[in-house]
Amino acid sequence: MSMASIGPHICYHTYDVVIVGAGGAGMRAALGMSSKNLKTACLSKVFPTRSHTVSAQGGIAAALNNMGDGDSWQDHFYDTVKGSDWLGDQDAIAIMCAEGAEAIIELEHMGVPFSRTATGHIYQRLFGGHTRNKGKQMAARACAAADRTGHAILHTLYQQCLKHNTTFYIEYVAIDLIMDEKGRCSGVVAWCLEDGTLHIFQAHLVVLATGGAGRTYASCTAAHMCTGDGAGMAVRAGLPLQDMEFVQFHPTGIYGVGALITEAVRGEGGYLLNNKGERFMERYAPHAKDLASRDVVSRALAIEIQEGRGCGENNDYIELHLAHLGADAIHARLGGIVETAKRFANVDVTSHPIPVVPTAHYNMGGIPTNTHGEVIRHVVGSKVETVPGLMAIGEAACVSVHGANRLGANSLLDLIVFGKRAAEKAALCVRPQTAHAPLPKIHYMPIIDRFESLRQGGDTLTTAELRTRMQKIMQKHVGVFRDGKTLNAGKKELARCFADLPHVTLADKSRIWNTDLMELLELHNLMLQALTIVHSATRRTESRGSHARADYPRRDDYKWLKHTLCYVHPNNEECTVTFANRKVILSPTIGGVHSIPPVARMY
Ligand code: FUM
Repeated sequence: MSMASIGPHICYHTYDVVIVGAGGAGMRAALGMSSKNLKTACLSKVFPTRSHTVSAQGGIAAALNNMGDGDSWQDHFYDTVKGSDWLGDQDAIAIMCAEGAEAIIELEHMGVPFSRTATGHIYQRLFGGHTRNKGKQMAARACAAADRTGHAILHTLYQQCLKHNTTFYIEYVAIDLIMDEKGRCSGVVAWCLEDGTLHIFQAHLVVLATGGAGRTYASCTAAHMCTGDGAGMAVRAGLPLQDMEFVQFHPTGIYGVGALITEAVRGEGGYLLNNKGERFMERYAPHAKDLASRDVVSRALAIEIQEGRGCGENNDYIELHLAHLGADAIHARLGGIVETAKRFANVDVTSHPIPVVPTAHYNMGGIPTNTHGEVIRHVVGSKVETVPGLMAIGEAACVSVHGANRLGANSLLDLIVFGKRAAEKAALCVRPQTAHAPLPKIHYMPIIDRFESLRQGGDTLTTAELRTRMQKIMQKHVGVFRDGKTLNAGKKELARCFADLPHVTLADKSRIWNTDLMELLELHNLMLQALTIVHSATRRTESRGSHARADYPRRDDYKWLKHTLCYVHPNNEECTVTFANRKVILSPTIGGVHSIPPVARMY
């Protein structure tokens, strides 16, 4: 298709940096880059303060020791390595934990309205897996703004970005990365929903901060927009996704709805009961009980339900009790979930328990990066090759600080620490406002052609039909527990879904606010990630963290203490999937902590 026949007006922009995504990671990076004089654009398909970080509830972890329990970043480091079931890279984990306190004080100084202790310090609460002295006591480490911590952070970051003159392109849908023949990223093509125009953003550096792909599943805590668009773009650019088999199920999604009920409920003293009125977590995690790591608690709920001890008519949920905390404490600390429970479960939490089930919540895997956010293309032995001009941060990325299982409250910290580090690296690599090389059309025209053919093409299927099929497959075949038989069946069914993508047709063929088209673009991104999840999960024949294989119940460090790199090679209606491995980094590179060798994990 020639440029003239495309129709819509095409606008060209040049920036030093283009950030795709305006959640916590994207805006922390944008603010850092703008304040270093880099001409920075931030593209977002939703209004920035509606990005999914807004829904993060319980807290952001850092060892401030505000509650006087003697917490230290070394304790945080130990817990995070253990929580990751030793798949987390210890260099990255050490950096995140050591830099955490400063990153949070910076947020406080920017104006984040954290809750306060009686002495005026940032309030911190207990969260699963956060301990002192290698699990001997629990540590109050999650810095909280009631149960709306993400909301508080996101609004402050947006204000700071405006203050530092970040240019926002709001309701712009990024379609694909512009890559040259040498594998350098030189920009991104985006579509403006409001007027239907297409935009070429040329940049010295593109940063993917597009969040996770919760919507690969039928029941998830993620918003409808959580379609992992950056990871989809990375796969289409021939890049791998790392550790995608590790999908976190949050133990307390509202039964039948999936909406999140924060772990802060248990941090504040709430507990889980089965239909016998038992605090069953005592059997699964005698020490930490309801505050064991999320993978452990989610599996316990799944087993209780499977073995007939679930509550309700169909024995298919667990009760989360918090009324004993008292209405005043609940309203002061957990006001958000009072509303959520009322709206989605019609429960008054000051008098009744909330029905909950494990629900897909977070992708530990994503676009592989080093600790500066630079995207890794491939690894040969210990040599890691990065992609010039491309970074990824936040849930879109896999740095990897969460390994096989993330601790609650560590994701907000990941966004802030690595968003900031990406900005620092950008300031070293990009000279503000330097000229751009000419951009050959051949680098972006195929992207526009694909966009146009999705808009015009297809025959029988709707996006919603195919998306529902995909989500049901993921829910059924790649859940809290998996095994070879169900995974292989899931793989086959998903391959059929992938093959059906070209049959999707749109009711609305326009370019202006065409949500049908946006959802189709998102479905393409989701499908690629669903494929990497099911293929990577089938290949990993062990149980580790959130990846619980009923047919391989043990962790196998000899064979599997390594990261998965998964490549998808789409060709027409079929696709092939290939793999490589990457060593887990077991040694921190900063002082103050030593390597923690793998041992069995107990809570
Ligand atoms: O339960 C929660 O508040 C979730 C926190 C997180 O995923 O970090």
